[in-house]
Parts: sequence; structure tokens; C-alpha cells
Amino acid sequence: MVHNENGTKRVVVTKDLPGTRWIDILTAANIRVEVCAHEDIILSQNTIKTLISDGCRQCHGVIGQLTEDWDESLFEELRTAGGMIYSNYAVGYNNVDVKSATKHGIPVGNTPGVLTETTAELAVSLTFAAARRVVEADRYMRKGLYLGWAPTLMVGQLLQHKTVGIIGAGRIGTAYARMMAEGHKCNIVYFDPYPNKFLEEYIADYSSLLESKGEAPITCRKIDSVEELLQTADVVSLHCSLDENTFHLLNEDRLNMMKKDAVLVNCARGPVIDEVALTNFLQANENFRCGLDVYEDEPNMTPGLSDCENVVIVPHIASASLWTRSGMATLAAANVAMRLQNKPAWNKPDI
Ligand code: DGY
Repeated sequence: MVHNENGTKRVVVTKDLPGTRWIDILTAANIRVEVCAHEDIILSQNTIKTLISDGCRQCHGVIGQLTEDWDESLFEELRTAGGMIYSNYAVGYNNVDVKSATKHGIPVGNTPGVLTETTAELAVSLTFAAARRVVEADRYMRKGLYLGWAPTLMVGQLLQHKTVGIIGAGRIGTAYARMMAEGHKCNIVYFDPYPNKFLEEYIADYSSLLESKGEAPITCRKIDSVEELLQTADVVSLHCSLDENTFHLLNEDRLNMMKKDAVLVNCARGPVIDEVALTNFLQANENFRCGLDVYEDEPNMTPGLSDCENVVIVPHIASASLWTRSGMATLAAANVAMRLQNKPAWNKPDI
């Protein structure tokens, strides 16, 4: 599909995006927009290269997806075609070789902010779905196994007043912490290279409010060792980015440090957890529960993982609200339009 056929600059969008505002933004900047209609969900490097230049065409910018591997060869292709910007339709950018982009003089944009609350809401949903065995119970009902109320049927975990551990206390981790503290009076511990004064003060204020109503206070503190956090928390939620420091952060040894009836949630990136180790751990500890939005080798899953009753699995949908996905499209387009009009501001990875 092509928008603004006569635009002076050509931008390729590797997958159609929700909403229409993003098209208006690019069209207003006099950009010809070509949206790929390829059937494959994950595009190969060759398909992307053909989209960029087809061997001879100019391409001034690309809006691409987190399912694409934006490596040196793609940035070389884009630079040769006259590319000035690559805009990732995601806040995460582990699929982008930012060093190669920089080497080829191509700035990288991303879409922070608009997915904060939506992603945190899914993390909260997975937390409770896992703790209260919602999906397992749903399967049980559909199989016709329910014969009547019983004291021990589908007993799970109460999370009120429990300790929630956040790994990665950036925008999304902070929103999740707030939701768990305000909604469920959980104590918060977090592991992050930087202190999060906003979160600490927010929880302190909320705690004062609770005390003024005669309720028990809650706390928020930074923990400098991931091991201590894992040993302390009843719920652990991952909100860090994926890089060489966080790859397999939760390996077999660290999983074994967690409480055997804890809840683990991952809405960050799959490879932060060693998925084979997690599958073994879930098989060995039936009271340990997990909620996963992301996987080590998407769209594949480690054999045996989906057979575990104690894991809730959803297909990388943390940002999937219409408002957010349209907002991401708007930001991705604004990144391109600003750059192609030589204006300075666009959203870019915090590196
Ligand atoms: C992101 O933006 O990084 C999410 O994983 C998808 O919205």
C-alpha cells in the first residue's frame, strides 16, 4: 500500500500499523509511505533488503518491527539507499545493532512512554492470573472437571501485603510497582543500577496515607544484589532491557534462590530468563507460578514449557491496547518526520 504517491522522500514501513495519525504525520512532511504487505510475520534479511532498495531505489527511512534483525548488513543497505533514520516500532531495541547504525550515520528511534501503563497492566494481570491459577482453573472448567466447591480446589496465593521485587525500575517497572503497592498494599524491593527516588517517595507518601487510616505501613527499598531480591520477594517481575548484563540473569542457580511458592513474571524480553532452566524449575516446583509474555526464541517455546500447569503464557501482548499501539505508530512516524525535516528532536534509545 502506498500513501502520498508523489512525496519527495521515500519511507518504507515493514508492517502495517494501527490508526491513521501516523500516516497523516508522514504525509504532512511530504513523505511517500510504502507499507509492506508481505504475508510472512517475520521478514527475512533478503526481504527487508528488497523492500529498502530493490537494488536501485532510494529509501530515506524505515519504520521496522522488533521481529526484524536490524544488523550491520541492513544498515549498510539503508545507508547506500540514502537512509537517514531507522525507527523501531517498540520501546525495546535489542533487535537493533545501534553501533552499526551509528557507524553508518543512521540515527535510531524508538517509542517510549506510550506503552508504560499498558505493559504494567499486563504484568499485573499475569501476576494475578498466575498467583490465583486463573488459566489453569479455566482449563479445568472447560474440561468438565468441576464437580462442586471444595476447600482445597485450585488454592493459590494471596498477594496483599506481600513483597514484590522489581528487576529494572524504569518507567514500566515503576508503574507496575505503583499498581501493586496502591492496589494491594505490597512492599516493594527493586534492583536497578540507579536509585528511583520518585518511586521511593511515592510509596512513602502512600504509606503515610495508609497509616493515617490506621492501616499497616508499606515500604520501598533498593536492593543492590539480585540474589537478595530473589530470596526476599514473593513476586518477582522483570522490567529490565535485554543486554549482555541481563542475558540469562535468571539462570538455574538464581531460580533456585527464589521462594518455592513465589510468582515470577516476565514482560521484558525472553532471554533474560534461561528458559530451559525455568521449564525444569516449573516442573520440579508445582507451587511456583509464572506468567510469561516473552520467550527466549520467539515464536518458539522450550519443549515442555506449555505442558506446565503452573505457567500462564501469552503471545508478547504487553503493549497490545489499541491506544498504545496507535500511540507507538504516531511516535514512530514522528521520529521519521522530524529527522527527514532536519528537526532535532526524536525519541531515541537511552544509551
Ligand atoms: C516493546 O515495545 O519493546 C514491546 O516489547 C512491544 O511493544
